[in-house]
Amino acid sequence: MRSKIAGIGYYVPGNVFTNQDLTKYMDTSDEWIQERTGIKERRYADRTGETTTTMGVEAAAIAIERAGITPQDIDFIVFATLSPDYYFPGCGVLLQRAMKMKEIGALDVRNQCSGFVYALSVADQFVRSGMYKNVLVVGREKHSFGLDFSTRGRNISVIFGDGAGAVVLQPTTDENRGILSTHLHSDGESAEILAMYNPGTHANHWNETKYADFDNAEMGEMFMSHEMIDHAQNFPYMDGQAVFKKAVVKFPEVIAEALSANNLTSADINMLIPHQANLRISQYVQHKLQLRDDQVYNNIQKYGNTTAASIPIALCEAWEQGKIKEGDLVCLAAFGSGFTWASALLRW
Ligand SMILES: CC(C)(COP(=O)(O)OP(=O)(O)OC[C@H]1O[C@@H](n2cnc3c(N)ncnc32)[C@H](O)[C@@H]1OP(=O)(O)O)[C@@H](O)C(=O)NCCC(=O)NCCS
Repeated sequence: MRSKIAGIGYYVPGNVFTNQDLTKYMDTSDEWIQERTGIKERRYADRTGETTTTMGVEAAAIAIERAGITPQDIDFIVFATLSPDYYFPGCGVLLQRAMKMKEIGALDVRNQCSGFVYALSVADQFVRSGMYKNVLVVGREKHSFGLDFSTRGRNISVIFGDGAGAVVLQPTTDENRGILSTHLHSDGESAEILAMYNPGTHANHWNETKYADFDNAEMGEMFMSHEMIDHAQNFPYMDGQAVFKKAVVKFPEVIAEALSANNLTSADINMLIPHQANLRISQYVQHKLQLRDDQVYNNIQKYGNTTAASIPIALCEAWEQGKIKEGDLVCLAAFGSGFTWASALLRW
């Protein structure tokens, strides 16, 4: 038994923020952003009206309806995000509540840009084993709440956008459909290269670099301190060039691994959906695998990098535009913070 995507949906907020709009807050330019990343605009959630969970609910509702079921039929939730509504509990339970689902299991996955493929892989195992029949997999982010919109944070803030995507996995015995395999990897050696250190419990333990300044309190106040805020230590950090260099190696590697595991070659791919990290990375991967333009789908130009949401948004858009048809070989591939990277190969 395999699992298949029985329904898919996505949601992006209505608020469009162009590169030009960003120049009001930081020293940047449309030219710089487009040249380095391919991004023209991104969406930002309503500041108080939308959360990571509410966006996920919008996407999940579409996926569930397209699967021909109701929220009460969902047996399990796997929810991937790095920008949860609360530090804890995770967004899975908030979605379970918002969609009035049964008292089912809700698992949160924290794998950043590869979060959706990791979540899909977890869901796939539950369906394959026969444990669950309708598993909801959601990837979503509300980055706009946690970025540094001053010039200090421009190398990161211009890249990320908000959005959500979801799929429903169901079992299938059709040999020509479904998820063929998933491949998951990590290398924590460079964990600090793309990270948000605070709030956290690290206490500057892992590195000679001081990632947090603490209050001089005898107890507590190390998780989140006034000093951290004063020294702008509450924003994500990224060494963009180091990320780029690793990504262009690991993307092709994990795609090749998926193809080889199924005795296929890159010529067999009908559609590659790379995590929308940076258009230059996607183009490099396309070139390396010698894929034609019609074999790769990119939409980072419109949405920026939506992290755990980027693959389901792109997959859904490509399918809605008729670029993915029944029987097509679809490859999903992701790389991101951790580092973690992953791929999935499926017959649509
Ligand atoms: C982030 C990224 C676009 C930066 O491009 P880059 O060519 O590496 O640029 P650098 O960081 O070397 O910075 C070059 C210059 O541009 C400046 N710069 C950085 N961000 C800028 C911005 N938004 N606008 C204008 N200038 C900017 C830097 O300050 C630097 O100026 P300097 O030369 O005067 O010091 C690129 O490294 C990248 O895309 N990396 C991968 C990131 C990624 O995919 N992350 C998500 C992983 S899932």
